[in-house]
Amino acid sequence: MTEKTGFIQAKEINSRLHGAGGCFRVETYETVDSTNAIARERAADGEPEGLVVIASAQTAGRGRKGRSFFSPESTGIYMSLLLRPQIAAELALRITTVAAVSVCQAIEKLSSRRPGIKWVNDIFIDGRKVCGILTETALAVGGRLEYAVLGIGVNALEPEGGFPDDIRDIAGSVFAADEGDRRAQLAAEIISCFAENYAQLADSSYAEEYRRRCIVPGSRVMVLRPDGTREADALDVDDECRLLVRYDDGTEELLYSGEISIKLNRD
Ligand code: BTN
Repeated sequence: MTEKTGFIQAKEINSRLHGAGGCFRVETYETVDSTNAIARERAADGEPEGLVVIASAQTAGRGRKGRSFFSPESTGIYMSLLLRPQIAAELALRITTVAAVSVCQAIEKLSSRRPGIKWVNDIFIDGRKVCGILTETALAVGGRLEYAVLGIGVNALEPEGGFPDDIRDIAGSVFAADEGDRRAQLAAEIISCFAENYAQLADSSYAEEYRRRCIVPGSRVMVLRPDGTREADALDVDDECRLLVRYDDGTEELLYSGEISIKLNRD
């Protein structure tokens, strides 16, 4: 059980890691600025692959596109995995997509909920975002990755008083009620599922599962890029987890960039 109310302890997670998950080294903290920031510092200091930094609250949680990530105490899981995959930098998006599949698998193992992936990095349940993923990378010479920090933020429970106004209409939680150490269980399961799938990173065979879980194909979307916004029909997800869209003038494009995101017409 959770020892101090609301704070996840490393031993609660370590004791539940299974399979390849056992190779990861979990460190837990009560409140930090950002677990991604801590993992990046440790990576720059030469920490080997496999460190997982988990906090029970963040004061400066980072989201994609420079946004902040709401990280209140005791209801979320804020974790960052330090990875040193031997892949070319242009394949870094695979880390995010493998993580998205893994989060869905973990939620399904521990609940009756049916999560789906909103391309490229959000996990939704019943139309609400319950998890966001932010992968930050450092490049080595020769176009390979020196390291990647995979940040996963899960709304395990609804915060007391609900979500803040700016995300109230979109945010949701995985569990309806706190039952003991649900967050530690979910954190351990995410790490263990990710560890299994990470072994497939080089051959991308997990992409079929990503496609099956992606809720976007068949929807009308807004394609958001730094230079503007365009409406399109989302058609499919390919073997690299790129999103195929068709614009209203009939041209098609495969979206594959951290710079591009989409908004579902029902968002
Ligand atoms: C997004 O939805 O835009 C991505 C959110 C990623 C949030 C997680 S929480 C753990 C890790 N530390 C951070 O500062 N950000 C990521």
